[in-house]
Amino acid sequence: METTFHMLKTNDEVRTRIKELAAEISADYGSISGDNPLLALCTLRGAVFFFSDLVRELSVPCEIDFIKVHSYGSGTRPEGAPIFDLGESIDLKNRYVLIVEDIIDTGATMDTLLKTFRDKGAADIRICTMLDKPDRRKPELREVILPDYIGFTIPDKFVIGWGLDYDDKYRLLKDIMYLSSDD
Ligand code: IMP
Ligand code: MG
Repeated sequence: METTFHMLKTNDEVRTRIKELAAEISADYGSISGDNPLLALCTLRGAVFFFSDLVRELSVPCEIDFIKVHSYGSGTRPEGAPIFDLGESIDLKNRYVLIVEDIIDTGATMDTLLKTFRDKGAADIRICTMLDKPDRRKPELREVILPDYIGFTIPDKFVIGWGLDYDDKYRLLKDIMYLSSDD
């Protein structure tokens, strides 16, 4: 079996889209004050590059923090429930939270995150994802997980690069590519 790489989004396309998203987010949070700045939460490890480029383009007061989420054991399909290390030190009370994800697939990870965060008393929680794969959404989450900001909506392909991995490989690829296996 041979694995082939195909280009999905070039580095330039992703960079351009991040600037557009940052402008949109900055406009939407235009009234946010420095006394209670936006809290952008990066889901490690996949979102790290998207996140760092995005938050540095924002023109509103913003703090950053990190959570560790992991749902893939190995290979290209989810294995078991997501594992979280939400860091007890992150105080969400009355905060305006923007969760920044690499990709939303079945929606299970985001569903668990939202449930966890809603109990922590945030004033508002929004979702920004670099990629959305709506065709893979669990039927019961189709009307529940609705990202506020989407970089690109993509077909049901396993993608790598820009932080996304396959068995911990390819995270550092500068373009977003997808894999296909030819038997
Ligand atoms: P979900 O819980 O099924 O929505 O999956 C969310 C997580 O699975 C993402 O944050 C990624 O870490 C991982 N994931 C989903 N699809 C892909 C993919 O195509 N390539 C790499 N990782 C993926
Ligand atoms: Mg992720």
